[in-house]
Amino acid sequence: MKSMFFELTLNVMMRMMAGKRYYGEGAEELEEERKFKEIVMTETLELTREEIDKEIGSKRVMEESDIGKLPYLHGIIKETLRMCLVTPLLIPHESSEECSVGGFCIPRGTMLLANTWAIQNDPGCWEQPSEFNPERFIRPEMVKNGFKMLPFGTGRRTSPGESLAMGLFPFTLGSLIQCFEWERIGEEMVDMSEGNGLTIPKAHPLLAKCTTPTYD
Ligand code: HEM
Repeated sequence: MKSMFFELTLNVMMRMMAGKRYYGEGAEELEEERKFKEIVMTETLELTREEIDKEIGSKRVMEESDIGKLPYLHGIIKETLRMCLVTPLLIPHESSEECSVGGFCIPRGTMLLANTWAIQNDPGCWEQPSEFNPERFIRPEMVKNGFKMLPFGTGRRTSPGESLAMGLFPFTLGSLIQCFEWERIGEEMVDMSEGNGLTIPKAHPLLAKCTTPTYD
């Protein structure tokens, strides 16, 4: 009911201010309406649903071959991997030979930790890094100094699971968004606090409400 009351309130406000309604039956299908919803809907779930509806529709369930048509969905996954790294310090490496990193001499046998969290959240590289903005991966001009994305590490020890994960994530998440409506269970935002562990688990499991969407 919360989302319906929300739409009702906004419709009343917009009827008063602009003389038109932007939600539900009788709402005009305007570019202006699309932009208004885009501004109002801060979480990004609805934009992904719109992208899936536009590219795949509701007559069939998405297939793996569809994921290339969904740049916004990819943006969400990349932005999540940028802000919430699975392994913020990668896996400890050891220098097999003496080497130089950033002007510092690193003796052979030194344990090396790469702070990828700092790189991926560096304001020198990313515009407003604390803001969740999947569009930065759609509009590359928003990224300063090129991409500084290393969620899977890099080089010879890079994660061999990268292509598996990047194929499976959009397909799994996209299918969940296409097949169900998702909502938080209460007023509170999802608790993103981190628990202990090598791969930074969520401290509290995600609880969400899902319902089956109704299509015309
Ligand atoms: C979201 C998914 C994943 C992320 C973000 C991720 C991230 C990483 C990172 C950051 C490393 C360390 C790289 C380094 O130290 O330079 C790593 C190593 C590794 N990952 Fe993944 N990984 C993911 C999924 C997977 C999957 C699905 C597999 C296996 C099917 C996998 C297998 C491995 C293995 C075997 C290593 C050790 C590689 C080595 O030390 O030579 N990963 N992963």
